[in-house]
Amino acid sequence: MKILTYHELDEKETLIPLMDQAFRWIFTPEQLERNIKKDARLRGTPVGYAAVEGSRVVGFVGVMDLRTRNLEGETEPVGGVWGVATLPSHVKRKIATNLMKKAHEYFREKGYRFAFLCTSRVIVAYALYRKFGYIDAASFPSAYKLVTKPKGKHKTKHVAGKKTASLDWNKILEIYNKFSIGKTGLVIRDKQYLEMVRKREHLRSTNFIVLEDGYAVFKKNRGILEVVEIAANSKETTKKLLAMLEAKAKTVICDRMVLDSITFDVYKALGYHVERESHDLIMAAPLENVEFEQVYGDKFHMTNLDLF
Ligand SMILES: CC(C)(COP(=O)(O)OP(=O)(O)OC[C@H]1O[C@@H](n2cnc3c(N)ncnc32)[C@H](O)[C@@H]1OP(=O)(O)O)[C@@H](O)C(=O)NCCC(=O)NCCS
Repeated sequence: MKILTYHELDEKETLIPLMDQAFRWIFTPEQLERNIKKDARLRGTPVGYAAVEGSRVVGFVGVMDLRTRNLEGETEPVGGVWGVATLPSHVKRKIATNLMKKAHEYFREKGYRFAFLCTSRVIVAYALYRKFGYIDAASFPSAYKLVTKPKGKHKTKHVAGKKTASLDWNKILEIYNKFSIGKTGLVIRDKQYLEMVRKREHLRSTNFIVLEDGYAVFKKNRGILEVVEIAANSKETTKKLLAMLEAKAKTVICDRMVLDSITFDVYKALGYHVERESHDLIMAAPLENVEFEQVYGDKFHMTNLDLF
C-alpha cells in the first residue's frame, strides 16, 4: 500500500465509494476538481493524502490551508483536516493514523502552530483525533423554537428565487467585520470566500435578509427554517431579524451554531430552547509547544458558513 497526494492519484473515481460509504457524499472527479479550483483553502495544497492499494483509494485524509484570527488580532494560518475516511473493508489497520501523520507533516512544513477539524464526539474518529493531541476547541450551542401560526394564516407569498445580483457583499462584509471585532477563530473572510460558500450552500439572494446593522442567512426545508448565519451589531437588530425569520418559518426555527454569546442570550430571552453543548464540535491540535487557550482565548467564533 502506498500513500499518494490527491494530485498524484491515477484513478480519482475510486474516491467515490470511499466518500459515499463515509459521508453519503457522491461527486464526480470533475466536480471535485472545480471545487478545488474555486476554494482558496485547497488551491496550492496537496488537497489530501490517499492510501492506495493497486489503483484503488482505500483511505483518505484531506488537508487545507485555513486562516484564523488569534487573540493578538493577527492572521494565524493553520491546517484544516477534512474528509477523513477508510473503506469499511480496511478499517482498524492504522490507515487513517498513517494518513493523519502525513497531514501533520504537511502542516508542520508550512510552519502552522495548529491543526483544526470538525467532527462529532460520538463517532470512533473522535478517539483517533484525541490520540493525535486534538482537544475540544468549541462546541456548537444551538437554539430551537416551535413556531405556531394562526390556522389558515401560514401561507407566505412565494417569491420566485432571484439570482444573486442584488447581494451587496460589501455591505455584508462591513456588518460581519464589525460583528467579529474582538472575536478569534474562523472570522477572516473576503468576497471570494463568501461567493464560494454561497454556491456550495446553494444560497440565493432570497436566503439573505440584510438590514442596516445586521443580516441573517437562512435555508428553508419543508417548513423548517434553519439559520445559517446571523450577524447583528445590536440586540435590537438581532431581535428584528429573528422576528422576520420567524414570520418565514412554518413549523420550527433552528440555529445549530450560535457561538456568539450575545446572540445566544437573545435566543434565550425570546424563549427559544437553547443547548450549550453539542455532539458536533471543532477540535484543535497544537503542532508545537503552544496551547489553544493562549492563542484563541474563549472567543473562538465560526458559523455554518465556515464548516469544512
Ligand atoms: C474513523 C475512520 C477514518 C478510522 O479509520 P481507520 O483506518 O480504521 O483508523 P485506524 O486504524 O488508524 O485507527 C486509529 C484509532 O481510531 C479509533 N478507531 C478506529 N476504528 C475504531 C472502531 N471500530 N472502534 C473504536 N475505535 C476505533 C481507535 O482509537 C484507533 O486506535 P487503536 O487502533 O490504537 O485502537 C474510519 O472508521 C471511517 O472511515 N469512519 C467513517 C467516516 C468518519 O467517521 N470519518 C471521520 C469524520 S470526522
